[in-house]
Amino acid sequence: MAPRLTVIGTGYLGATHAACMAKLGFEVLGVDVDPEKVATLQAGRLPFHEPDLADLLAEQVATGRLRFTTSIEEAATFGDVHFVCVGTPQRKGELAADLTHVDAAVDGLAAHVDRPCLIVGKSTVPVGTAARLAERLTDRAPDVELAWNPEFLREGHAVEDTLRPDRLVFGVRSATAEAMLREVYADLLDAGVPAIVTDFATAELVKVSANAFLATKISFINAMAEVCEAAGADVTQLGSALALDPRIGGRFLHAGLGFGGGCLPKDIRAFMARAGELGVDQALSFLREVDAINMRRRARMVDLAREQLGGSFIGKRVAVFGAAFKPHSDDIRDSPALTVAATIQLQGAQVTVHDPVANDNARKLHPGLGYEDTPELAADRAHLVLHLTEWPQFQALDPAELGEIVAERRIVDGRNALDPARWRAAGWTYRALGRP
Ligand code: UDX
Repeated sequence: MAPRLTVIGTGYLGATHAACMAKLGFEVLGVDVDPEKVATLQAGRLPFHEPDLADLLAEQVATGRLRFTTSIEEAATFGDVHFVCVGTPQRKGELAADLTHVDAAVDGLAAHVDRPCLIVGKSTVPVGTAARLAERLTDRAPDVELAWNPEFLREGHAVEDTLRPDRLVFGVRSATAEAMLREVYADLLDAGVPAIVTDFATAELVKVSANAFLATKISFINAMAEVCEAAGADVTQLGSALALDPRIGGRFLHAGLGFGGGCLPKDIRAFMARAGELGVDQALSFLREVDAINMRRRARMVDLAREQLGGSFIGKRVAVFGAAFKPHSDDIRDSPALTVAATIQLQGAQVTVHDPVANDNARKLHPGLGYEDTPELAADRAHLVLHLTEWPQFQALDPAELGEIVAERRIVDGRNALDPARWRAAGWTYRALGRP
């Protein structure tokens, strides 16, 4: 009999994991403390935007293999393998991660399980968490095993990343745990996805060090953008030339407004905090610089926008294209676009935002900004247009047509994703971060 699976926490990670595991043929029960979210998911509807996931969810709920509940007790008695996919946000006023939800999920399961089973942590946690949880389980539910299986999915590509990941990492303490994970991921392993089997601490570290490396790569090219701005060089050409060196590679070398979202910013901070606890804070002190470079991009964007308006935002209309932290997502957590939009509004401009899918989320966080359903409505009589999230539909805009709508043809491209020649040919003043 195939093992029955549960997925605790049905956010971007958990909802995707639950639907993908059902797609692989397992019976899956998703669990969340939020009754509204559970009702929506159980009705086959996705409470957020993620390409391909809405269809997959509806399809899998319709088969009856995928269900959702608010009851951790029901999950504990249903599942043979329990995936913990709850959030680990940054603690308020600290760098460290808040592990309340992870602890609650594991304790909740331990209180109700009635037979041997495997709990698999997928949440991003500070190194040492799995060992601590394993000890807790020894006292409370000795028949329960623990494994750590970090998740590397990117928002906007969550389904493909889950069904065709670059690698699987199994942090385990026994052959039984490894065998169970191999059974659950059999289809992926058969398709050639490499699996690395490690101890708990290494598995936890693979995840945070991957995110630290990616953040560093982005901040490296953004640091080069700062130098390019001072030297009159072009960071996009520089990046293209660097990318041709196979030792460097071109991915995550895209200069612009920098990284945001629910992972990279908080993960590098939690990693620094944990290194401090371990007495190796010096090893990660460079991440402070990575963080600082990243945050400086937002400030530079505001300065460049102000410069375009002759030194002051007061009384100016600014259109902002993009609110999500990246395209193909409605996630606005730590979104560079929204930070810039809100700062400019505070400095006296009237800011109108358009995002293809994130307007509603953005409005809840920043009700004082204006929101419009199309880029054209947002750009109506604008003195300045800011391109802050690189949705493909913004690249497809016709600069000449948009030029008829705005008050002044000025655009700042915060993502180096528009074609300067096209905009300049239509009479626009085009500026971007890191290039003349
Ligand atoms: C990231 C990791 O990629 C993923 O493996 C992990 O599981 C979770 O964190 P995600 O937050 O979904 O995923 O987004 P990602 O595609 O990594 O982008 C992060 C941020 O970096 C975005 O704000 C993006 O706009 C920015 N970015 C990315 C750049 O500014 N330049 C680049 O070259 C690449």
